[in-house]
Amino acid sequence: MKVTVVGAGAVGATCADNIARKELAEELVLLDIREGFAEGKAQDIMQSATLLGFDTRVSGSTNDYTKTAGSDVVVITSGLPRKPGMTREELIGTNAGIVKTVTDNILKYSPEALLIIISNPMDTMTYLTLKESGLPRERIIGMGGTLDSSRFKYQLSQHLGCSPADLNALVIGGHGDTTMIPLIRFATWNSVPVTKLLSEEKQKQIVADTMVGGATLTKLIGTSAWYAPGAAGAALVETIVRDEKKLFTCCVSLEGEYGQRDICLGVPVTIGKKGWEKIIPFELNADEKALFAKSADAVRNMNDVLSTLKA
Ligand code: LAC
Repeated sequence: MKVTVVGAGAVGATCADNIARKELAEELVLLDIREGFAEGKAQDIMQSATLLGFDTRVSGSTNDYTKTAGSDVVVITSGLPRKPGMTREELIGTNAGIVKTVTDNILKYSPEALLIIISNPMDTMTYLTLKESGLPRERIIGMGGTLDSSRFKYQLSQHLGCSPADLNALVIGGHGDTTMIPLIRFATWNSVPVTKLLSEEKQKQIVADTMVGGATLTKLIGTSAWYAPGAAGAALVETIVRDEKKLFTCCVSLEGEYGQRDICLGVPVTIGKKGWEKIIPFELNADEKALFAKSADAVRNMNDVLSTLKA
C-alpha cells in the first residue's frame, strides 16, 4: 500500500504522522511546494519510528510528483489555512488554483488513486476535484463531516460526562460554520437518544458550539486546527486500506440522493477499498430537510464562484 499526503503543513504532517503510527501503508510520501519542507517533516516522523515502533517508510518531496507514482490513496491538504475571523469560504480563490494543479499532477502519476480532500472550502474543493478529474464519483471523498462529527461527539461528551467513543453522532451538510447540520435527533449514547438526557437548551448549545468548532480553535490558536483534521484524514485512509466499510459522514457527489444533484455535500457513507460505497439514507424531518436544502444552496453559490475564477 502506498499513500501520499500533499501539503506538509500542520494538517498534512499530522495526517502523515497518524498514518505512519498506525502502519496504514508500507510507503508514505509527503509532498510540499516549499523547498525541503516535506523532506524535513518526513525525516522528523521517521526519527520517531524506533520510539513508537512503526515500520512505514516515510519520505518527503519538494513538488516532485514522480515520487508519488503508484499511490493507492492520496490525501490533499494543500492551500492556505484560515486566519482568525476568516471563513473557510474566503480561501476559495487561492485554494482552487492550488487544488486544481495538485489533482492534475497526482493523477498523472497515480491514475488509480482514491482522493481524500481536506483543503478548504472543502465542499467546493471536492466538487472542483470531481469536475476537474472526471473520475468516477466514488473515488473522491471530502473529509469535512468526519471531522465535524468527531467535534460533535466531543461536545456531547463534555455535557454528558461520558467517553466520546461511546457516542454515535453525525454532522451532515456542508463543512461551513453556517452550513453544517449536527443531527442531534439521531445522536445516541450507547443506543440511548441524547435528546432524552439533555435539556433543549443544552442541545441547542451543543449544536451551536459544534458548528463553530473550527472557528473557535482558529481564534484560540491563531490558525486552523490540525490534530483532529489530521486524525480525520487518517481515519478515512484506515477504512480504505483495511477495507473496513466503516460509516462516516463525507462530502460526496450526489446524484439525486437526499434530493440533490450536481453538488458535493456531507452525507453518511460507507467507505472501503473502492472508495465510498453506499450512501446511507436517513429519514430527515421537515426542519432537517429545510436545513439540508439551505446548506446545499450556500454550497452551490460557492461552487458557482469557481466559474468566475481565472483558469
Ligand atoms: C477545521 C478546518 C480544517 O475545521 O476546516 O479545523
